[in-house]
Amino acid sequence: MVEVSLRVNGSAQRLDVPPQVSLLDALREELGLTGTKKGCDQGACGACTVLADGDRINSCLALAVQYDGREITTVEGLGHPLQEAFVRADGLQCGYCTPGQLCSAVGMLAEHKEGAPSAVTEHLTASPELSDEEIRERMSGNLCRCGAYNGIVDAIREVAE
Ligand code: FES
Ligand code: FES
Repeated sequence: MVEVSLRVNGSAQRLDVPPQVSLLDALREELGLTGTKKGCDQGACGACTVLADGDRINSCLALAVQYDGREITTVEGLGHPLQEAFVRADGLQCGYCTPGQLCSAVGMLAEHKEGAPSAVTEHLTASPELSDEEIRERMSGNLCRCGAYNGIVDAIREVAE
């Protein structure tokens, strides 16, 4: 077992976990934070997205021990206007992908603000405003089996504006 100290949603947490435990499993099974979802468990769907020191990561691909000492934010601690915007814009149906979409979008908005390039801005003239095309490209790591993409883009655009 390895001791891991995390700050999760503002609270200090100390865990004893096997070294191979993913951050996703540590959050869900050790801390009971089941808002973060497990879809593919192999980095393909984005359902497990959380923020680590503000950066979005796939927690299924991260080992808990790698994040020792870091600040982790899950949907339970997000408290972001985007959550209400998702409701207003019908950005969800079953809701399984939603925690990951929300965390990813919050991280994505910060990346855009900092001027991080995307595949769209690398090929087109970079704009200070987020186009729908750019929102879709930057959110392409988060899949939605219900196909709520139009509402997701509307919600993100509303908050970005
Ligand atoms: Fe992590 Fe699918 S569960 S990317
Ligand atoms: Fe059902 Fe996205 S709302 S998978």
